[in-house]
Amino acid sequence: MKISEKVRRIYDRRPYPCGAQSLKHSGWALALDWVDAIGRNGAQVGKTPRVLVAGCGAGAEAFDLQRRLPSAEIVAVDFSSRSIALAKRLQRRSRKMSGIRFLTGDLGDRELPARVGGEFDLITCHGVLSYIPGPSRVLKNLGRCLKPDGVLYLGVNGAAHVSTRIRHILAIFGFDMNEYTEKSHMRDIVRLCDTVLSPEGLPSISGARAEFLSSDLFGPLIQNLTLARWAECARRGGLHFRGSLSSIRLIRLIAGNDLVPLLMPRSRASAGILLEQIRPSQFHRLLFARTSAPDPPWASRGRLPEWRIKLTGLYRVRLPKPARRMLDRLRKVTISSVTLKISSEWSMPEWEVELLRSGDGRHQVASLLRKMPLSVPFADLRKQLFLLYQLGIINLLHPGTAPGAY
Ligand SMILES: C[S@@+](CC[C@H](N)C(=O)[O-])C[C@H]1O[C@@H](n2cnc3c(N)ncnc32)[C@H](O)[C@@H]1O
Repeated sequence: MKISEKVRRIYDRRPYPCGAQSLKHSGWALALDWVDAIGRNGAQVGKTPRVLVAGCGAGAEAFDLQRRLPSAEIVAVDFSSRSIALAKRLQRRSRKMSGIRFLTGDLGDRELPARVGGEFDLITCHGVLSYIPGPSRVLKNLGRCLKPDGVLYLGVNGAAHVSTRIRHILAIFGFDMNEYTEKSHMRDIVRLCDTVLSPEGLPSISGARAEFLSSDLFGPLIQNLTLARWAECARRGGLHFRGSLSSIRLIRLIAGNDLVPLLMPRSRASAGILLEQIRPSQFHRLLFARTSAPDPPWASRGRLPEWRIKLTGLYRVRLPKPARRMLDRLRKVTISSVTLKISSEWSMPEWEVELLRSGDGRHQVASLLRKMPLSVPFADLRKQLFLLYQLGIINLLHPGTAPGAY
C-alpha cells in the first residue's frame, strides 16, 4: 500500500481534531497580523478574502478562520472522507459556519486548483506536509492555487520535533510505528520520554488525545526537517520563503547584545534560516509567496534612504509626544505585540522616534531625515533600520512601488 494511502487510513480511522469543541476552539490560532506584516509587507488582505484550508481535518482550523474573518470565502479540503463528513456534521450546528465549502480531495492531485475553484489570497496548511511523501509536489500545487500577491502559511515539523526521539524509543520497546496502539504500556513509555525531555522545555504528550498520538507519533512517515530543507522544498515547488515566526523570537534574543548587525545584509528569510541552524525548531510556522520580497540595499548610502518606511502592524508602537525642538537625546518608546506576547520599553534616539512617527509607507527615509535639524550617520541609520526590519517592526518599501501596494 502507498504511504499516502496508509496516511489517509489513519485519519479516516481517527479524524483530527475530534470532538464538537473544535467548532468553538481550535488548539491554536493563526496570527493574521503576522501574515500581513511579513507575508504581505504590511498590506492588509482585502475585505472578502478567499482562503483555502489545505488539509483541514475535521474542520477546526476553517471554523477558527471563519470566526475571525467573517466575510472570508473559505474552501477547506482534506483527503480523508470521514474527516470531511465530520466537519460537515459540525458545520450544520452553526449558521455562522454555513459558508465554508468542505471538499474531499488530495493536495497532490494536479486537478486541485480546478477542484477548489481558482486562486486564493491566503492558503493555510498546518500539520499536514510532514506526513506527505514528496512535499515539493504539493507545494507546487498549492502555489498554483495562490493569487500573485497571495500568502501561503505552512505549519510543519522541525528537526527538533519531539517525535524524532520518542518514535525511536517506542521502536526499541518493540512497537510497530506504522500502527497506533492504545496500550497503557505505550503511554508509560511516552511518559518516560516526557520526563527525561522536560528540562529541554519540550511539551509533554503522554496525556494527549489518541488522534494526536496516532498522527504525530505513529504512522508510516513523519518528516522533521530543518528550516533550510523546508525552504528548499518550497523553492522546488516555485515558492519563495518570506519568514518564520520563531526567527523573530531568536532575533529578539540577540538584539540586546548588539549582534543583529552580524546578519547584515541578509533578508528576514535568510537570517531565519541561519539562526535556525544554531537552534533547531520543534515546529515551524512559515510564510511563502509566489515572489521573493525585494531586499533593501543595506550597503548603499545613496539608495537605502530612498526606500519608504512603514510600520508593519505586528506591534503596537507607543511613541512619546513630539518634542518642540529635536535634540540629540534618547526617548522612551513602548513596543508591544499580542501575537508575540511581548511588551518592552526601548530607549531610542529622537531621529528614530520621528522616523517611526511618519512610518505610514508614504515617506522616503531621506525626505524625513532632511526635515531634521541634525545629521544622522549612515552607519547608525542602517543599523537601526536593519534591527527594526529583522524584528518585523517595520517594512521598507521599494521606491518604485505605490504606497498601498507591496
Ligand atoms: C494533523 S491533521 C491537521 C488538520 C488541520 N490542519 C488542523 O491543524 O487542525 C492532518 C490532516 O491532513 C490531511 N492530509 C494528509 N495528507 C493529505 C493529502 N495528501 N491531501 C489532503 N489531505 C491530506 C489528513 O487527512 C489530516 O486530516
